Amino acid sequence: MKSYTFDTLLLETDDKGIAVLTINRPDKLNALNNTVLDELEQAVKNIEKDDEIRAVIVTGAGEKAFVAGADIKELNTLNKKQGEKQSVRGQKVFFAIENCSKPMIAVVNGYALGGGSELAMACHIRIAEENAVFGLPEVGLGLIPGYGGTQRLPQLVGKSRAMEMILTGGQMKAEEAKSTGLAGYVEPQGKGVEKAKEIASKMLKNGPVALSRAIEAVNSGFRVKGFSDEAELFGDLCETEDFKEGTSAFLEKRKPNFQGR
Ligand code: COA
Repeated sequence: MKSYTFDTLLLETDDKGIAVLTINRPDKLNALNNTVLDELEQAVKNIEKDDEIRAVIVTGAGEKAFVAGADIKELNTLNKKQGEKQSVRGQKVFFAIENCSKPMIAVVNGYALGGGSELAMACHIRIAEENAVFGLPEVGLGLIPGYGGTQRLPQLVGKSRAMEMILTGGQMKAEEAKSTGLAGYVEPQGKGVEKAKEIASKMLKNGPVALSRAIEAVNSGFRVKGFSDEAELFGDLCETEDFKEGTSAFLEKRKPNFQGR
């Protein structure tokens, strides 16, 4: 078992070359702060360079969450320019995951909200454990998804269902995620990694160069121009009173009182 050391991640590889990358901030439901984003970027670089790693499973530490989103405490103070920069930063890390030359499988073991759903959607396939909850609740914070969610969710579940989910900030449980194609499988709690290893093993019987080119070719058909608009709109919203109110309300554990400004 080979492993790399990070503050907020675990990256361990078994003797078959299947690595498990765990987001490890369970006391904050694995929320994506800037350290997690920096370390994810570094982890993908390690994965690309390390010939012993042939496929990667991404999951969350603890029993409650895959990832509960971008860290709202860090978002709360952003202005327009910083907001757009933050969105571009998150998008860049998730592009690195989406374009990774080795198969990336998300095992969604609890809440996958906001950046958590966006991280899962950047992976090549998704397995939901029975307690998985997908959602893009950003409008409830006076924001929009900023790490690619407005672009990838319509690709995976269709525009209408994606629009409903984004505009209501509603949630999708494991079975519905499977029926819409957002997740390929639903597995009992604690069994997702096993299933992911089974699928990864099937992939790894094939030529590694072919796998990497297949990922590249499939991704090529889904390159869309909307990511930069998403980042700009995310930045614009950081200047609104609704954004300050929405994020402050979350941190103060109360309901937001939006004024539409
Ligand atoms: N950013 C920062 N901190 C977060 C977080 C996030 N996205 N999600 C959870 N946390 C923190 C909470 O503030 C809390 O910290 P505390 O113990 O220091 O108060 C801790 O994680 C546990 O979360 P809590 O809200 O108490 O758990 P819960 O079981 O009552 O609710 C959720 C779980 C996932 C429903 C709730 O945490 C939630 O709505 N999170 C935000 C989801 C979101 O809007 N994500 C999009 C962000 S752009």
